[in-house]
Amino acid sequence: MSGMRSVAKAALESVENLFERAFGPELNPMHQLGALGWFFYWIVIVSGVYLYIFFDTGIHQAYESLEYITNVQWYAAGVMRSLHRYASDALVIVVMLHLLREFVLDRYRGARWFSWFTGVPLLWFMFACGITGYWMVWDVLAQYIALATTEWLDTLGIFGETIARNFLNPDILSGRFFTLMVFIHIAVPLFMLLVMWIHIQRQNHARVNPPKKLAIGTLGMLLVLSFIKPAVSQAPADLGTVPTVINFDWFYLAAYPLLDKLPGLTMWAIAAGGTLLLLLLPWLPPRRREQVAVVDLDNCNGCGRCVDDCPFTAVVLQKRTDDSGFSEEAVVKHDLCTSCGVCVGACPTATPFRRTSELVPGIDLPDLGMQALRDRVVEAAAGLAGDARVIVFGCKNGPDLQRLEGPAVAAIELQCIGMLPPSFIDFLITRQHVEGIFLTGCILGDCHNRLGNQWTEQRLAGARDPYLRERVPRERIGKCWAGVTHNTRLARELAAFQERIKGLPPYHRAARAPSARQATERSDTHG
Ligand code: HEM
Ligand code: SF4
Ligand code: SF4
Repeated sequence: MSGMRSVAKAALESVENLFERAFGPELNPMHQLGALGWFFYWIVIVSGVYLYIFFDTGIHQAYESLEYITNVQWYAAGVMRSLHRYASDALVIVVMLHLLREFVLDRYRGARWFSWFTGVPLLWFMFACGITGYWMVWDVLAQYIALATTEWLDTLGIFGETIARNFLNPDILSGRFFTLMVFIHIAVPLFMLLVMWIHIQRQNHARVNPPKKLAIGTLGMLLVLSFIKPAVSQAPADLGTVPTVINFDWFYLAAYPLLDKLPGLTMWAIAAGGTLLLLLLPWLPPRRREQVAVVDLDNCNGCGRCVDDCPFTAVVLQKRTDDSGFSEEAVVKHDLCTSCGVCVGACPTATPFRRTSELVPGIDLPDLGMQALRDRVVEAAAGLAGDARVIVFGCKNGPDLQRLEGPAVAAIELQCIGMLPPSFIDFLITRQHVEGIFLTGCILGDCHNRLGNQWTEQRLAGARDPYLRERVPRERIGKCWAGVTHNTRLARELAAFQERIKGLPPYHRAARAPSARQATERSDTHG
């Protein structure tokens, strides 16, 4: 399974590299699928509210009101209708890609099951919205959908009388059906919004808005499409004839041809079985639990940085339970912790400068603690030779680090690059253990642990606590955010970095005058 997943991951990344080339890492739509889902949802809602003003419920009025929208008020309501349809189709595309991506990248098992599990009902809501939307148009496509859907529902045998017969005889069909459709078409999206909100409750700093440029470009494309190819109705429904549908929306109705071919109950079994399988997928097979983060109260001052930085809302602050004098303390919610270590990188007490005492930070991963990390890097640095000695810090989800090792390069694999406290970089450079530090991890904007590389960038830039002190010469820090298919680029950039640091004068502690910022740097950041 994991071998297959590695192949699938590399294949997915190769496709995404094409998007990366076209859009750059920050605007790569493949890294924004969840946020794009929210964006398309809002376009559908806004355009839908506008359409509702002009839409008339009734057997004949529904079709006629849509003809008015498309042909008379084409410049406003017509555009809204097209936006409504195309944004709904785009929603299906991004949601299906989002599902596939989370699966291939294994971001849905163990403590991360929740978003997957709550995503599954969203699929049903999304399709229910789309199908009722087409139904409301009451053209031949709607007639086909009405008949096929009600016949399928009838196979359950739970309705007193067959509901499909309503769509076989024009004398029986009542306007109440349209009122019901409108009700469903409005109620389901509202419920969907609630579940979308629940879906991201375990994602700290969830991305629900795509970057501005991507949003504007996407909306622009939908608008252009709406003008070039406006959404239109097909011929009006006529219950006296058997509908022959010409234009089919495969995004929402792909399963309908199967309804014609397979018995209704078989289709129910497929739908229910598929849903159940999807729901159970996070436990098929269950993920091996690693040791979760542990708080050491003697070293925790309740600053809350771990709470803000944990990508999975697994740390909270609570009232202090000891007499330390601090008002709050960090507590790890065991079942939410993915052992990514990002909280350790955020903790100001995780500093290797604490030479006298054992390095026990406020929060740590028991198996991969900071004391062991300090010992490992010091030992690895001592084994290096040459005038461009480099420690590479990387992440276990990124490119292969072993390949980078050599006489002057040692590679240290972390749970996530966000696990590295900036003080380690300071320590290794200013204590002259090495000439340079090189950081790598997942592609920017697509951290396996959601926020690790983003927090690292911000900590280095001084935009996020704990930040890297200004005394650390930035030219001695190299970075390459790279995926599993970027081994060659990574090696090339590391070699270029080594060449650059070879040309630097030797580092001297007093070489830099302290800046105003440095003077006010908090002493607790680096011990
Ligand atoms: C309307 C449909 C959906 C929308 C708008 C949506 C939106 C989102 C958003 C905004 C995130 C957070 C992204 C981030 O900040 O990292 C997310 C995460 C996620 N979603 Fe969805 N989603 C939808 C449907 C689904 C479906 C159908 C599935 C799968 C069955 C799914 C599975 C996941 C998973 C596994 C995560 C990531 C969890 C993690 O990183 O631990 N989503 N989604
Ligand atoms: S970052 Fe460290 S010191 Fe601050 S609350 Fe978390 S564990 Fe405590
Ligand atoms: S290791 Fe830390 S940052 Fe990662 S999920 Fe657990 S508590 Fe959150």
